[in-house]
Amino acid sequence: MPDTLTVTDNRTGQTYELPIQYGTYPEYGAAIRCLDLRNIKASEDDFGLLAYDPGFTNTASCKSSITHIDGERGILRYRGYPIQDLAEEYTFLEVAYLILNGELPDDSQRDTWVSHITNHSMIHEKIKKFMEGFKYDAHPMGMLVSTVAALSTFYPESRNVTDPAVRALQIRRLVAKMPTIAAFAYRSNVGFPYSYPDNELSYTGNFLSMMFKMTEPRYRPDPALEKALDVLFILHADHEQNCGTNAMRSVGSSHADPYVSVAAAAAALYGPRHGGANEQVLRMLNEIGHVDRVPQYVERVKAGDFRLMGFGHRVYKNYDPRAKILKRMADQVFELTGKNPMLDIALELERIALEDDYFVSRKLYPNVDFYSGIIYQAMGFPVEMFPVLFAIPRTIGWLAQWQEMLEDPDQRIARPRQIYTGEDERSPG
Ligand code: ACO
Repeated sequence: MPDTLTVTDNRTGQTYELPIQYGTYPEYGAAIRCLDLRNIKASEDDFGLLAYDPGFTNTASCKSSITHIDGERGILRYRGYPIQDLAEEYTFLEVAYLILNGELPDDSQRDTWVSHITNHSMIHEKIKKFMEGFKYDAHPMGMLVSTVAALSTFYPESRNVTDPAVRALQIRRLVAKMPTIAAFAYRSNVGFPYSYPDNELSYTGNFLSMMFKMTEPRYRPDPALEKALDVLFILHADHEQNCGTNAMRSVGSSHADPYVSVAAAAAALYGPRHGGANEQVLRMLNEIGHVDRVPQYVERVKAGDFRLMGFGHRVYKNYDPRAKILKRMADQVFELTGKNPMLDIALELERIALEDDYFVSRKLYPNVDFYSGIIYQAMGFPVEMFPVLFAIPRTIGWLAQWQEMLEDPDQRIARPRQIYTGEDERSPG
């Protein structure tokens, strides 16, 4: 059978044959080229047919070899490796190397990569001063977005996005500096002196040190919490063409530099329907306050008063595999930190929702944000920091997707079409 789609335009009676393209295997994605639809015209001077797809619910904007998700079966793989295996056996920086380069590093590649990241973690003192300009109660995500954008002014060579060596240097800088900026945003908020990076510590150990070090000469992270944060970072590192990544690719497609592009991606992530949901989950659990009030809360969700935060996903129509790992991890973290009282409310909410036809029929399951916030809170992170904790590891995915986009000969500046619904030409007189 030919790999084509035959379409009959009933306006004209004409038939068109459109070639079908595949991913690695047919079940990993099959698509027609939207541009082929333009040949379908009702008349000679017709513009040609467009594909109407608000929110890109069924549009493949690129070909990508980075992350594979099967939302029906609850599968997530980076470069072919299941997320569960990576989370158990590798560190965040090894997984970051995998996502960015396509293969897991050997020992020497890992050591060089880790040393590069470690050596770029300091930020210019002027950036520190810049951050002092924010109001005392500024949201740390707003601070992160603006400060990352400001890095663009410190590295003007980064505009040369077509040079692979220039790109590689900016990638190291961004991966290394995100935790520093994130921790400085927190310390600036609470009025603590900044804690500078400690090159002896791991990526997540150093981040914990920059966040929580007080008067002790050297901060020693609890290895179990350091590992838990590492796993959380692995789970958040990439998620193919989500809202933030789409922003990164879209802004990057104009050849804007990677700092402003990452700032745009982080801004997209900040929204409560995306990475800001983890913060909203905690606010929701606080508002519910007690397990007894869960049924009443669920009724209000069903009545359409608001959405259950941390539930539902554009792609997963099954349990989010990341939420599954986090639910297990929560118990390990709570053994060290003591149980977060919000957990009981969350478990009851999940139990009731998963039995209720409203959620079952819409295939609404807990997503990654449902449990991550409860764990972050138990680890001592304030709620406002949750989206920031998402942005740090997601920087890896943004940069890998940006790089892939720049090297893809099919890619052009992102410029969707519209279907005009306004007035036809008219005269003001
Ligand atoms: N609570 C209650 N109802 C919901 C929820 C929810 N969390 N999510 C979706 N629905 C309902 C919608 O009201 C709609 O019902 P209807 O058909 O009766 O109108 C139906 O399910 C489909 O919802 P859509 O908004 O069309 O689904 P979409 O794929 O566009 O949205 C999204 C996905 C934005 C994640 C949505 O599920 C949501 O808002 N969830 C809560 C916020 C959240 O947790 N976001 C984090 C996602 S994970 C991440 O970004 C890292």
